[in-house]
Amino acid sequence: MRQVVEVPLGKRAYEVRIGEGLIEGAGREIAPLLARPRVAVLTDENVAELHLEPLRAGLAAGGIESVALALPPGEATKGWEQFSRAVEWLLEQKVERRDVVLALGGGVIGDLAGFAAAVLRRGVRFVQLPTTLLAQVDSSVGGKTGINSAHGKNLIGAFHQPSLVLADIGTLDTLPRRDFLAGYGEVVKYGLLGDEAFFEWLEEHGAALAAGDRALRAEAVRRSVRMKAAIVARDEHEAGERALLNLGHTFCHALEAATGYGERLLHGEGVAIGCALAFETSARLGLCSQEAPSRVRQHLRAMGMKTDLADIEGELPGADALLALMAQDKKVVDGRLRFILVRGIGRAFVADDVDPGIVRMVLEEALAAR
Ligand code: NAD
Ligand code: GLY
Repeated sequence: MRQVVEVPLGKRAYEVRIGEGLIEGAGREIAPLLARPRVAVLTDENVAELHLEPLRAGLAAGGIESVALALPPGEATKGWEQFSRAVEWLLEQKVERRDVVLALGGGVIGDLAGFAAAVLRRGVRFVQLPTTLLAQVDSSVGGKTGINSAHGKNLIGAFHQPSLVLADIGTLDTLPRRDFLAGYGEVVKYGLLGDEAFFEWLEEHGAALAAGDRALRAEAVRRSVRMKAAIVARDEHEAGERALLNLGHTFCHALEAATGYGERLLHGEGVAIGCALAFETSARLGLCSQEAPSRVRQHLRAMGMKTDLADIEGELPGADALLALMAQDKKVVDGRLRFILVRGIGRAFVADDVDPGIVRMVLEEALAAR
């Protein structure tokens, strides 16, 4: 069954369609957007092997010609080198101003292709076809696009909303368990930041969802996207409330930088650990009960997820070095650290000027437990 969540952004409003068979039916879904029956697809090599042919066949069935470029998989692709390769390729393919670019893949491809679409000929439209849980619940919705810099994560980019999102739940069947669980980190984040009932639902259904229940997966995607769409509609450019979606991310971005943006720590794994650390910091500041961080960790552990710094293999820098990495965060204002903290499960808020001493203490204890 298909679910539709509207992202109500006036002239830039679009639908997130969630269900099965959306890749095979892509021609029918996308045709109404096209000025001419031709699209350019950006994807990665893993996804290309599994889902590109069904997509191209689905497009052809709708009378749409397609060309495709598969980039190497992984976070390292989200940098200048592959970005410039993608943009030059789109120009080579003579993608015009009224054309539509398709992003088939996880958050890496969605972010890179979205940014390419934002700058190509000063902006062309694009459609997200997210194939990871993370991309279906988070990165394909809301219009944040971009790439990483040597100075930090997502520091180069643009807000550019897609024209349509097709979240085909069936594509999650081929996703390796580790990537699925990393995406689950972002799902849990929604419950933790603003919906305790959703967190309870995840405590009850998380295991079945991870085991492959498609109806539960679709419901988790729908509830996550509904929440994100509502926040984005109220605060598209992150003047305020949208920052709540970054719960756990200040810690996560520092950990990703410290581990080299690679296999040692996937983004969603860093988000899960970051959420646990944000709850710990909040408890230390007396903002929430001591039980709250324990409950968060208990659920993450029960799901078999990374939960603590101890779960990251290899060396990590000390607390001061991690704090220095946090200072590159986009939420830093006038050099002051802004964190998303919580007053309990489902009750996040933006905290300005958090005492770095408390954060250092939380990090030192977490590092000592390794
Ligand atoms: P990813 O795109 O690297 O995908 C993870 C892995 O799964 C890759 O190896 C990929 O090839 C593979 N894969 C993708 N779909 C598959 C499928 N259906 N079957 C088998 N393999 C598949 O990573 P991700 O976790 O999807 O995204 C992480 C990125 O998203 C990070 O760069 C992060 O910064 C970004 N992000 C962006 C936003 C946003 O709002 N724009 C939000 C959250 C995260
Ligand atoms: N993933 C955070 C945001 O879209 O704002």
